[in-house]
Amino acid sequence: MAPTKTILRALAGETLPTPPIWMMRQAGRYLPEYKATRAQAGDFLSLCYNPDLAAEVTLQPIRRYGFDAAILFADILLLPQALGADLWFVTGEGPRLSTVQIQADFDKLGPVEDIHETLNPIYETVRILRRELPAETTLIGFAGAPWTVATYMIAGQGTPDQAPAHALRQENTALFEALLARITAGTIDYLAAQIEAGAEVVKIFDSWAGSLKGEAFQKYALEPAREITAALKARYPHIPVIGFPREAGDNYIGFAKATGVDCVALDNSVSAAWAAQHVQVDGCVQGNLASSHMVTGGQALVDDTRAIVKALSKGPHIFNLGHGITPDADPDNVQRMIDTVRAG
Ligand code: CP3
Repeated sequence: MAPTKTILRALAGETLPTPPIWMMRQAGRYLPEYKATRAQAGDFLSLCYNPDLAAEVTLQPIRRYGFDAAILFADILLLPQALGADLWFVTGEGPRLSTVQIQADFDKLGPVEDIHETLNPIYETVRILRRELPAETTLIGFAGAPWTVATYMIAGQGTPDQAPAHALRQENTALFEALLARITAGTIDYLAAQIEAGAEVVKIFDSWAGSLKGEAFQKYALEPAREITAALKARYPHIPVIGFPREAGDNYIGFAKATGVDCVALDNSVSAAWAAQHVQVDGCVQGNLASSHMVTGGQALVDDTRAIVKALSKGPHIFNLGHGITPDADPDNVQRMIDTVRAG
């Protein structure tokens, strides 16, 4: 049966008169209602593992703006935690994890089969959302790509250049590849469980794909995305997969064909015209408005939004930002972006 929800139609390759729209990090600190629910939960991780409150914050941007898709409220770092890493968040700084740098660290991680013990509340959030979302809204599940998740597990925190992960991959390739294989297997099971619970689309976030060059990109960004997509497609052929190899540059070309993903999410370092010519030829694309417009607003926001819609109007397109909205964004600018897209 052909899909009726706009996001699913675009993912199936249909060119719609108005692109459907959602926004990375649409549930987040720029919204006062998010901050209130997060305060109620206590802290960020307690919010992620509380199905009622996680569902509530997922629904907030749908109620306020009527986005065409909701993205499950969770985090890419819950999987490492489920695999046995310690995880905590330092206010104002970001995530911290126990590190994996030597074989003994790796040996402390648990088996993939055990992840669901930790992640069960996330699947419950998905089930609540499928009951409560409006009929026209698509539910997107997600996970981090193995490389991006590994960069946090190896360094124990976010790093500007992913240097600790690059060092491990060069100095102890066997350990690095064992870690990537464990994360890949865990990601397949985690996304499959989200689909079983009701996720209608899944997205793989490779936020740090851009720091892999040449053969390393093929081996550690493209190949894991292909493996995860193939495993999911074998079990769930009708569930679309979105790939996001952020800052991949020329490696965006051919990424959908090589991995089997149904849609490629674009950051804002590539132009929409270039993406139309080189990426959209293979199917649906998503993106690529600079998230800084959500802070600065004004005519530039309207102009860039219109330019992206126009440049990508001849093929399947889902409107989105090039990266997550930031806490200093103005909620009124989000409304302006949506109005501009929907005015055509
Ligand atoms: O998009 C959504 O609304 C769904 C939920 C979602 C979150 N994180 C919630 C979150 C998604 C899809 C993510 C993905 C994620 N998490 C990525 C990949 C996408 C990207 O942004 O590149 C990465 C690298 C992470 C890891 C992570 N989580 C970091 C580095 C941080 C700290 C930075 C920050 O913004 O504070 C987080 C925390 C986080 N994840 C927040 C949210 C709403 C902020 C936490 C808070 O409320 O204090």
